[in-house]
Amino acid sequence: MRPRRWSFKRSPLDARSTREGVFFVGSQQIRLLIWLASGLLCGSLVLADELPTPSLERSRELIRMVRQDCGSCHGLTLRGGLGPALLPEALRDKPPAGLKYTILFGRPGTAMPPWKPFLSEAEADWIVAQLLRGFPEESK
Ligand code: HEC
Repeated sequence: MRPRRWSFKRSPLDARSTREGVFFVGSQQIRLLIWLASGLLCGSLVLADELPTPSLERSRELIRMVRQDCGSCHGLTLRGGLGPALLPEALRDKPPAGLKYTILFGRPGTAMPPWKPFLSEAEADWIVAQLLRGFPEESK
């Protein structure tokens, strides 16, 4: 009696668990697909939102230029000198477009020179974005 009941109890359990197993795997795969798709979507949104980034070599040049050339007036730590501080706290409330045009065209009547001959607009945008987030140090 006992062994028969046991086997009777067992088989429907197995069948159910097998069905659950199949169902589980199916939903996992769908979840994986959704996850992949949303990852791609977010990735492309983030990329679309990002500024064009200069090449590694060019960004090194730009960092060096800002630290050395801009630093000669704005202070080597960008805390201000002849020119005002270029730290995130100092620039936070100023419109980024204005900062970009100040860099590209200078401020006539002040010591701030135009950098248009040396920078593209995208590069000036990039410098402003870096200044606003805390300008990177030169890599040695
Ligand atoms: C010869 C000195 C000098 C050099 C070099 C110089 N600046 Fe300036 N900069 C100034 C002065 C002075 C001002 C303030 C102008 C004014 O009175 O409005 C200024 C203003 C600015 C401003 C506006 C700041 C604000 O608070 O509105 C930015 C941004 C700026 N400079 C970025 C740069 C960058 C980036 C470089 C290098 C690519 C650079 N400057 C190089 C002298 C200089």
